Amino acid sequence: MNIGILISGRGSNMVAIIEAVQSGEIPASEVTVVISDKISAGGIEKAKERGVETLVIERKGRTREEHDAEIVAALRERDVELVCLAGYMRLLSPLFVKAFPDRIVNIHPSLLPAYPGLHVHERVIAAGETRSGCTVHFVNEDLDAGPVILQREVPVLPNDTPESLAARILEQEHHIYVEAIKRIVTMQVITPR
Ligand code: GRF
Repeated sequence: MNIGILISGRGSNMVAIIEAVQSGEIPASEVTVVISDKISAGGIEKAKERGVETLVIERKGRTREEHDAEIVAALRERDVELVCLAGYMRLLSPLFVKAFPDRIVNIHPSLLPAYPGLHVHERVIAAGETRSGCTVHFVNEDLDAGPVILQREVPVLPNDTPESLAARILEQEHHIYVEAIKRIVTMQVITPR
């Protein structure tokens, strides 16, 4: 399966996916392109170092649809079959979602449907939660919505800061994102209708 990854930042989930593909843990697949909407994304260099083609496609004052159309065209040119959002900080337009029906996945650092959106760990700690976690889900037109593929629970400890909780969850994100993609590639996930 040809995989395309979209990032906006550091790209640690992206690295986990590329390494799992290159080691064969995710079988019969290739990461054909990494696309960032930010020139400053640290993940771009990490993808290059691992021999993956990178593109920077910034929005540059265009409409969301124009920006998304350029990304969709780049993905199609490379025959991408599965799009993985990995810290991609934009909501996809309907045009994008329709271009890859049931073929876009995302990772989010909470136990969705709880705590969609930004500043998740701050909100989880402020609410006094004792458990949080991460979720891999199919992407639809709503923010952090769409059918759940895999989740993993992580404890919130009494002295946690947003940073310490984020780090504990991120470690699990890397595991479940790889596992979810493996299941999709090996057809162990029924795509939602
Ligand atoms: C992760 O916590 C992910 O769940 C969220 O953004 C963060 C991206 O981290 N969507 P990285 O760029 O993969 O290191």
